[in-house]
Amino acid sequence: MFLWGTATAAYQIEGATGEDGRGPSIWDTFAHEPGRTRDGHTGDVACDHYHRWREDVALMAGLGVNAYRFSIAWPRVLPVGSGRVDPRGLDFYDRLVDALLAAGIEPVPTLFHWDLPQALEERGGWLNRDVCRIFADYAATVAARLADRVPWWITLNEPFVHMAYGYAMGVHAPGRLLMTGALPAAHHQLLAHGLAVQALRAAGARQVALTNNCTPVRPASDGEADLKAAEAYDILHNRLFNDPILLGKYPDLSAYVPEVDFVRDGDLETISAPLDALGVNYYNPTRIAAPPPGAGLPFEDAGITGHPVTAFGWPVVPDGLRELLTGLKSRYGTALPPILITENGCSQEDALTPDGRVEDDARVAYLDGHLTAMRQAMAEGVDVRGYFVWSLLDNFEWAEGYHQRFGLVHVDFATQRRTPKRSYHWYRDYLRKAQNTDT
Ligand code: BGC
Repeated sequence: MFLWGTATAAYQIEGATGEDGRGPSIWDTFAHEPGRTRDGHTGDVACDHYHRWREDVALMAGLGVNAYRFSIAWPRVLPVGSGRVDPRGLDFYDRLVDALLAAGIEPVPTLFHWDLPQALEERGGWLNRDVCRIFADYAATVAARLADRVPWWITLNEPFVHMAYGYAMGVHAPGRLLMTGALPAAHHQLLAHGLAVQALRAAGARQVALTNNCTPVRPASDGEADLKAAEAYDILHNRLFNDPILLGKYPDLSAYVPEVDFVRDGDLETISAPLDALGVNYYNPTRIAAPPPGAGLPFEDAGITGHPVTAFGWPVVPDGLRELLTGLKSRYGTALPPILITENGCSQEDALTPDGRVEDDARVAYLDGHLTAMRQAMAEGVDVRGYFVWSLLDNFEWAEGYHQRFGLVHVDFATQRRTPKRSYHWYRDYLRKAQNTDT
């Protein structure tokens, strides 16, 4: 069965950050620091999904999806990251899983979508290798409770973005500015993934994946310097995360880090344990030029012009998804497992009309174009098994707070009123047709 779904993440929708024993995460800390997020927005309330989850499951049932990708808040299950389990955290996800299954929706939980327990940050966060084993223990705890009913597990969401934004550039939690010194945070996340795969399988998990953010990289010109910069970007954004998982080795990093001293014997074997799918999040391609002399990084984003842009300013290039998927197939060949597109979507400046509608035609065009591109890639031989729209609801968009709306459902954050947008109705009709014709 092809998985047709929507996706969310715990800190972006749940709110109730101090309830039922949940411990603080790095995102609670970061968002409460002055100047970190736009207008000081935090996830304290978000979409109040922790209390309104029944309504949200009903919205998905009305949409007709057969899968839902959400994330489990580690600090709800283990308030200080390890040791004492708070059963109330597990109870919440247990109820959610049962409600989804009762509605004919397969739960696809992600174990880590960036909300590291603050207590682990105080031990060094992902720079500390001990956190890898602690993550695997957390995975085992959750799976012991849910693996009997959960068909698909995703270990991590976008370790690239967490490393780059959280540890290299400091624009996401935990707000560190280490530039290429952030690389151990990549390796430790990947090792944590590998150890979690073992823990999940031991607990009876049926299918396991990891989600990477992937972007096709286009050099700004055919000049040697731009080609070299594009290669550097491709290595650091894509291959640093896909090669170890799929090929059991890192790309050559010697040009970017003085010494790769954080990889130990046996790590790559653990990291490259076979997966049932690779999760791919796609938003846009990237055009890269050589950096100006003296720049801190070996590339510069040259921007893509000539395409519509989202409210974020991201270029809308549906064919980039086909390019990405066929590119993965030609790079990894038989080492590439089936693909789940675990996120795809766009922010738009959605407004409610006086009579309570949201006419988000640009989102409809975005989704339509990308679904066509996905089908073209499938026709070219790429084995895609699922597609999840980011996102079900307008939600807390990290450093942008509530300023970027990605939902199929509009959320009025003052009243928590949910209003399905035109794109919701469009996706519902699309799914009806697809579920009648697809296998
Ligand atoms: C993340 C989401 C985020 C989305 C839009 C992805 O990188 O997984 O949490 O909201 O992109 O920025």
